[in-house]
Amino acid sequence: MSSHPIALADPAADHASLATEIESAVLQVLRSGRYVLGPEHDAFEQELAAMLGTPHGFAVSNGSDALLLPLMALDLEPGDEVITTPFTFFATGGAVHRVGAKPVFVDIDPETWNLDPARVAERIGARTRVVMPVHLYGKPAPLTALEALCTRHDLCLIEDAAQAILSKVDGRSCGTVGRFGGYSFFPSKNLGAAGEGGYIAVREADDAARIKALRTHGETQRYHHRYVGGNFRMHALQAAILRVKLRQLETWNERRRQNAKRYLELLRGTGLDARVKLPRWECNEVWNVHQFTIEVDRRDEVQKKLAEKGIATGVYYPVPLHLQECFAYLGYKQGDLPHAERAAARVLSLPVGPHVSAADQERVVRELTAVLDHVRAGELV
Ligand SMILES: Cc1ncc(COP(=O)(O)O)c(C=O)c1O
Repeated sequence: MSSHPIALADPAADHASLATEIESAVLQVLRSGRYVLGPEHDAFEQELAAMLGTPHGFAVSNGSDALLLPLMALDLEPGDEVITTPFTFFATGGAVHRVGAKPVFVDIDPETWNLDPARVAERIGARTRVVMPVHLYGKPAPLTALEALCTRHDLCLIEDAAQAILSKVDGRSCGTVGRFGGYSFFPSKNLGAAGEGGYIAVREADDAARIKALRTHGETQRYHHRYVGGNFRMHALQAAILRVKLRQLETWNERRRQNAKRYLELLRGTGLDARVKLPRWECNEVWNVHQFTIEVDRRDEVQKKLAEKGIATGVYYPVPLHLQECFAYLGYKQGDLPHAERAAARVLSLPVGPHVSAADQERVVRELTAVLDHVRAGELV
């Protein structure tokens, strides 16, 4: 039995599979002297826009800024409310706070870990301006229902598609259904940069002009600033690297989907589906499994035991945003959003990336079964 460590993500392996092309693209940029914006940057923007099916797309500094810029473009006022999920990476709620608006966290659907449209509808009020779903783990949020709600109440839909590049719902790419969609190229993402990077899909031409200006200090003409923006540009080197990786993305995504399917078969085959909660697929979605996540009792102990066996797992995310110290001023308390709190205590993501082999997956499921047997026997400490 092999006992090599199984990583949760392996950016070096992704690089190795394309090393010659990536390294020559990097050299080309270095020798060109075009380090900011430039031809590689523009080509990457356009190629990704075509793949996503968005009329406008902008490469930016990182995924957090890809959420911040759309919110900046809306001229929100203090007290304006953005309804979002508490069960996400911090950047989602952080972006709302950073523009001076008020995050309103509503509980998730425990079956999908994503926003529940019925709960969103209950919280829409006079100050609501934006609904910001997150496609957590790359699984599409219920966009059709949220889009209808936003249309009915004249709200802006901003999608946090950081984890969901090229995932689809009813044939539409996550991040392109709302007025804006933000993506992240953090190295462990399905499409990872060699550093930081992000992207904003934009539906309307006016919004596109605004995002483009905000990305360079609100400039509409060289040294003429209509808005206060910032330096939110992507490095040309990252764009060149991402351009090469983009050609591989569908293959990598397919590998993730296959690995997820294999996990389901293995977990069901060993009867673990009766003991852990498995992810659920809807028939109208393409889910490019960024994380393959299950729910287990005594999660932290299970994670520790698997680590001892050389199997890395992840907890995304252990503290829901409504209970973060920096959001105490919003007045939420433990118990307010029980589904998110329960998920935060129980979720565990297994290695599912393109670096994970079928044999690795068999080993993960074998070890997980053994660990859960110990838990059942009350032996775990
Ligand atoms: C759901 C979600 N939103 C936003 C971000 C922020 O992206 P970045 O780390 O590129 O700033 C991430 C990635 O870490 C994320 O997973």
